[in-house]
Amino acid sequence: MGEVATVLDYTVQEPVSAFLTKKRQLLIDGKWVDAASKKTFPVYEPATGEVIAHVAEGEKKDIDLAVKAARKAFESGPWPNMTPSQRGRLIWKLADLLEENLEEFAQLETLDNGKPLTVSRAADLPLSIDLFRYMAGWATKISGETIPISVPYMPDAEFHVYTLREPVGVVGQIIPWNFPLLMAAWKLGPALATGCTIVLKPAEQTPLTALRLGELFEEAGFPPGVLNIVTGFGEGAGAPLAEHPDVDKVAFTGSTEVGKIITKAATGNLKKVSLELGGKSPAIVFSDADLAVAVPAVASAIFFNHGQCCCAGSRLYAHKSVFDKVVDGVSAEAQKIGLGPGMDPATGMGPLVSQEQMTKVIGYIDSGLSEGAKVVVGGGRKGNKGYFVEPTVLVDTTPQMQVVQEEIFGPVVCVEPFDDDGIDRIAAEANNTSFGLAASIFTSNLSVAHKMARRIQAGTVWINSHNVFDAALPFGGYKQSGWGREMGKEALDLYTQVKSVVATL
Ligand code: NAI
Ligand code: MG
Repeated sequence: MGEVATVLDYTVQEPVSAFLTKKRQLLIDGKWVDAASKKTFPVYEPATGEVIAHVAEGEKKDIDLAVKAARKAFESGPWPNMTPSQRGRLIWKLADLLEENLEEFAQLETLDNGKPLTVSRAADLPLSIDLFRYMAGWATKISGETIPISVPYMPDAEFHVYTLREPVGVVGQIIPWNFPLLMAAWKLGPALATGCTIVLKPAEQTPLTALRLGELFEEAGFPPGVLNIVTGFGEGAGAPLAEHPDVDKVAFTGSTEVGKIITKAATGNLKKVSLELGGKSPAIVFSDADLAVAVPAVASAIFFNHGQCCCAGSRLYAHKSVFDKVVDGVSAEAQKIGLGPGMDPATGMGPLVSQEQMTKVIGYIDSGLSEGAKVVVGGGRKGNKGYFVEPTVLVDTTPQMQVVQEEIFGPVVCVEPFDDDGIDRIAAEANNTSFGLAASIFTSNLSVAHKMARRIQAGTVWINSHNVFDAALPFGGYKQSGWGREMGKEALDLYTQVKSVVATL
């Protein structure tokens, strides 16, 4: 692995530098405005630790104004009167605009979050575009049912009974920094398809692509107030949104700890809550697995996006007969990864998102070592500029260690051997966590694969792969990994409510 480049040599597109130069404001009721307090906060480039932009710091007053605008747009004006087809076309137009500006968004995302530009281009942008297109299609396909009822105490009555599926109303959406644009897309897509209006609170570490997306909303022709964006911090802007009495639903992605705070904050008006939280996902390699498939897959399960994935395969179990080969293979993959600034085309892994995240991840590695784990490769910070952490493979971990129990959210994998292929035993070990977001199973035995899929308590189980996502595929957590599903048609349930209409004829 090469040294981290200290001089960044890359060209940023002119629209990107122009976007960064100007102070970015809040989007409220179709207008870009300063925070009521006039406060701003800095945005850092993780590759250098330098400030690249200044963004308005929204707080309760701004959230109040944004919610008021979202309420107005939900109840009056063009949005509630649009046909589903018109709504679908606006969402499709948004996807087209995103595609036209793909390179600009990819660069902005990489500068803001640190991830390799190659990944922003090939994953974050295409997945976001596809999500909007998928949800654009749903706008015209959200329907209720007609229901034949019996009513024992009205034997002579005749009825015409149906359900309406109506938008839940004004939604607050609080998103994290690991896939800043894509997390916005996952949340906005179904809210728009169902006719809700939105107050979006991007993560304070990575507000830039959401703000640029706000400009595309105007360009696409969405009415003012349908999307409002309030940038700011968790306690300052996120908390007043989660507890706001005029917000009908809050959707959150982030830490389990904050998910619980949001759930409590929502009790004031009993707003609906959906949560996509942490994970400690197992990847399990059986003795008969095709290692040519399994090794690169389990390496990318943890190292993709620097391990900053809620479904990162951070607990790797390998049968003892293949354990050494898996450890060697994953360690070799780790050493092949070029660690460097995301804007460098040779970079395979960029910096972590923030100083705080880097400190947290290094703290976990140290805690593992102090409890007796051993480092095979990696093990610490790289360089002294930017927030780079080496891809790290730990062995000799035990199930009780903090590194095995808690979400690290960095490029750190714990590899443990298992003794026999008894699926109930290994399933129990895989399930020995309070999380349940995802898992992957590597075997050439179909029956083992599908038996494991049933036994694993997780919202997604991959067989002979990890990190396969699609707009049509529901994603979300069992246990403390969350409530509700994003993407797929399940996501629409989170943004609609059912009304039964009973006509007695
Ligand atoms: P966080 O959960 O604090 O932040 C996520 C979002 O929630 C941000 O927009 C933040 O401003 C907001 N927020 C924070 N406190 C809030 C509050 N009291 N009320 C309302 N909104 C609030 O996550 P953070 O601090 O960025 O990362 C800490 C850890 O959380 C990570 O190391 C990782 O383990 C986990 N995490 C999990 C994610 C996932 O995709 N499941 C994404 C990001 C972080
Ligand atoms: Mg936090």
